[in-house]
Amino acid sequence: MAPPLLSLADLAFTWPGQPVPCLDIPAFAVGADEQVFLHGESGSGKSTLLNLLAGVLVPQRGRLEALGQPLPGLSAAARDRFRVDHVGLIFQQFNLIPYLSVLDNVLLPCRFSSRRRQRALENAHDLRAAAGQLLAHLDLGEDLWKRPAAQLSVGQQQRVAAARALIGRPEIVIADEPTSALDASRQDAFLDLLRRECTAARAALLFVSHDQRLAEGFARRVAMQDINRSGGAA
Ligand SMILES: Nc1ncnc2c1ncn2[C@@H]1O[C@H](COP(=O)(O)OP(=O)(O)OP(=O)(O)O)[C@@H](O)[C@H]1O
Ligand SMILES: [Mg+2]
Repeated sequence: MAPPLLSLADLAFTWPGQPVPCLDIPAFAVGADEQVFLHGESGSGKSTLLNLLAGVLVPQRGRLEALGQPLPGLSAAARDRFRVDHVGLIFQQFNLIPYLSVLDNVLLPCRFSSRRRQRALENAHDLRAAAGQLLAHLDLGEDLWKRPAAQLSVGQQQRVAAARALIGRPEIVIADEPTSALDASRQDAFLDLLRRECTAARAALLFVSHDQRLAEGFARRVAMQDINRSGGAA
């Protein structure tokens, strides 16, 4: 059997200055091509866990491997490189660069990662075409591509953030509650698009939300309270 894409064992993380661990997780793994819905109430440690899996944070204890590499053993610079090469991140607040155009926002990972750039060029004759294909799949018309990200609606920003996460086919896409600002029908449409694009790119998807309604359609659903012995910091 192929090794999991992400795996952790006996992991503990405590925020500085906090008396109890935020996370104390005996085991959790995500396989290649798997789509996982991770849910838990506000403050249960979902974003903290995603930041550990993406190599932004480092646990105080335990094993944490992504694509077979032990992330805590890497330097901060090597973890940054790993993330830009292999992980597509969609944040709670999208984190687009407001003054950059839609196209330039989508292409940011290709500026920082030659691996993402090469993979983006496998199915397109240039980077603009690669970004354009994704934007078109995500229903963002060409009339928007040159517009600064600051001048987009929330739903449009969300789709730009998804295109930026997907460009250059990272193996892992991590989405941290990216739908909370949208109405129900737009949430469903966005999730359908994201799942379809991850399937097409053969990326694993770890999708986080406190909204159980969105769990529909995910073969695997994980509750923070079932994997986290700590129950989150107060
Ligand atoms: N930078 C930080 N410094 C100290 N404590 C933090 C920090 N970020 C988060 N925490 C604490 O860690 C716990 C988990 O927070 P986290 O943001 O991971 O929760 P969450 O499940 O993502 O919540 P939400 O659904 O509201 O986004 C909370 O108790 C929070 O107060
Ligand atoms: Mg969060």
